[in-house]
Amino acid sequence: MNKVRVGVLASGRGSNLDALIAAAKAPDYPAQIVLVISNNPDAGALAKAQDAGIATVVVDHRPYKGDREAHERAIDAALKAADVELVALAGYMRVLTPVLVDAWAGRMLNIHPSLLPDHPGLDTHQRAIDAGDIEHGCTVHWVTLGVDEGPIMGQARVHVLPDDSEQSLAARVLAEEHKLYPACLGQAAARLRAAGKAS
Ligand code: GRF
Repeated sequence: MNKVRVGVLASGRGSNLDALIAAAKAPDYPAQIVLVISNNPDAGALAKAQDAGIATVVVDHRPYKGDREAHERAIDAALKAADVELVALAGYMRVLTPVLVDAWAGRMLNIHPSLLPDHPGLDTHQRAIDAGDIEHGCTVHWVTLGVDEGPIMGQARVHVLPDDSEQSLAARVLAEEHKLYPACLGQAAARLRAAGKAS
């Protein structure tokens, strides 16, 4: 089986990347992670990719000095040079411009730690507690220009417990992220293939 070639963009520790790498080891999983790109040279995600034998590229945003489009053109070039067919944002902490969003329309997923459309942006767990939510969770969605706004592909829910701290709630949501993202990425890859849009 030809696996759909996935590029992952990550800025931080890379636990979702790890979950995707683990899922992709299954022979019948329809996607393989072929490249990990980070804007942060110190991202834990880079070490995790290297441990798994996956190619990595650092495209540090700082030398671009605010030219977000030029930074994204460099990322886009790296994705295309690796024949990437589907992109997964996994803790990629940059707001995207049309350069990447348009180039990868219908081929780029993101995972967000809330039940969108509730709590887009940062500090989602504390905001769920402060809002008195009884349910919280995570969302995988297609990437569009509006931050955390694209069509939803899947969600996983957890109960907010009366004695939850931001940390305890985040940990339960993260465990769900690690199941939801591999499931959604696999579905997305299978759909691309079925539509004749992947190798
Ligand atoms: C996750 O909570 C993800 O939902 C959010 O950023 C965090 C990344 O964590 N977008 P990790 O780097 O995958 O561990």
